[in-house]
Amino acid sequence: MSCPVLSLNCAGYSPESMPTDQRLNKLKRIAHQRQTGLTVVIEDVFDPHNLGAISRSCDAFGVQEVNVIFETMPPFDPKEVGKNSSTATNKWLSYRVHHGTETALRRLKDEGWQIAAAAIDPAAETIFEADLCAPRMALLFGNEKSGLSPAALRLADRLVTIPMRGIAQSMNVSVSAALFVYEVTRQRMARRPELLRSAPEVAAQTLAHFLEMHEQFNRRNKRLRKERAKQRPKAADSNM
Ligand SMILES: C[S@@+](CC[C@H](N)C(=O)[O-])C[C@H]1O[C@@H](n2cnc3c(N)ncnc32)[C@H](O)[C@@H]1O
Repeated sequence: MSCPVLSLNCAGYSPESMPTDQRLNKLKRIAHQRQTGLTVVIEDVFDPHNLGAISRSCDAFGVQEVNVIFETMPPFDPKEVGKNSSTATNKWLSYRVHHGTETALRRLKDEGWQIAAAAIDPAAETIFEADLCAPRMALLFGNEKSGLSPAALRLADRLVTIPMRGIAQSMNVSVSAALFVYEVTRQRMARRPELLRSAPEVAAQTLAHFLEMHEQFNRRNKRLRKERAKQRPKAADSNM
């Protein structure tokens, strides 16, 4: 099966699982709008809802890949967070799950990512003065209670802070992530607009991922509908 609208090989997709043309065009546009060389790294997130909120901001600003590190926290599947919510965007994102801070950050550095740790540190450069336009920028965030681990702070290339003027000493991790992703996007709009889009081959890969996800949700929804339909007569019987 070929998808001329996508110039993509759709051989693996059954016709009934293909999205409508309108949906397909939307997914194609979004795939192209994913940013190049921008990722978010979250170390030991405690509350999965915070990961859900961070994911939503990543989607909004066109960040496709999110790195989740479990060092001391029990691991969970990022794709499962809020999966019953129609607004959950994590189903469209790509997650890299790492077990261990040191190996995760070393791997990212080997891949050429510059790691900017979001830290509550008066000695750090502020988000207002930091140049966040590196072509491969990884924004690193810490645990809700303990912040970033010593290993994360040691391996980061730089520390960047959002100066706090209020009573609380820190922001919610998902709010700080949204502000950082916003700021990188703003700086790129002004100075590196070419990074705000994906290269065609990367966009094609992202699109293939979207189609795969679309098919998975369809299958899951179908199964759920069948299960519900099976339960309905039983409920009616029990009322008799
Ligand atoms: C709730 S904070 C952690 C607070 C922790 N008590 C600490 O001192 O780091 C969770 C994460 O959000 C990010 N964060 C929160 N407020 C920030 C700020 N003002 N500047 C930079 N990052 C911030 C950091 O990555 C932090 O590790």
